[in-house]
Amino acid sequence: MKVIKVKNYDELSKVAASIIAAQVINNPQSVLGLATGSTPIGAYKNLVCAYNDGLLDFSNVKSINLDEYCGLSGENDQSYRYFMNDNLFNHVNIDKNNTFVPDGTAEDSEAECERYEALCESLGYADLQLLGIGHNGHIGFNEPASAFAAKTHCVKLQESTINANSRLFEKKEDVPTSAFTMGIGTILKAKKILLIGGADKKEIIEKAIYGDVTPEVPASALQLHKDVTVIYVAE
Ligand code: PGA
Repeated sequence: MKVIKVKNYDELSKVAASIIAAQVINNPQSVLGLATGSTPIGAYKNLVCAYNDGLLDFSNVKSINLDEYCGLSGENDQSYRYFMNDNLFNHVNIDKNNTFVPDGTAEDSEAECERYEALCESLGYADLQLLGIGHNGHIGFNEPASAFAAKTHCVKLQESTINANSRLFEKKEDVPTSAFTMGIGTILKAKKILLIGGADKKEIIEKAIYGDVTPEVPASALQLHKDVTVIYVAE
């Protein structure tokens, strides 16, 4: 595991973007595993700048996102599909037909999980998977549990996650209570993993990377992967 400590969010975003940019330059047909949340926004901004400067070409890139709220369509501005369009896809030359997010409106959730896992498999999983982390150690929406989930599944969100995410909604009641997420197994199939966290995630990141490997801290599973880079703000 490669651990990079940075001084602030600006540096975090620049270093993360440079790793993603290098991936795209080295393999223009990369499958990028992408994440939502506040943490990656700065990295996406840096990627858009690099694209505008003519340094990056996303025309042959494909992407698979970690997760999506159940019940929200891509037009809903709280959906993760909307987030990805708004923060990255609308600003670079990626073909949106090559960008994949679980379908939050799927009625048969089991079928949607199977479809999404099969899709990830058909793409060979991510060449580089970007991850944020929750204060409870979740990655994607893999909440602390008694076992690591192998595949894409539907989860009931923990109260702490609903509270954390309610800052982005008008009222807490509007936050969906369940979500589709890649499993820990799906995430670990990525060829490379990049975990990023701001200053408020220092404690949980250190617990995840130096503590016991346990499904109670889902991100601790990353210790089992052979090519993980962790960048976090630590002063
Ligand atoms: P955040 O969320 O980047 O908005 O803090 C990360 C996560 O919960 O995975």
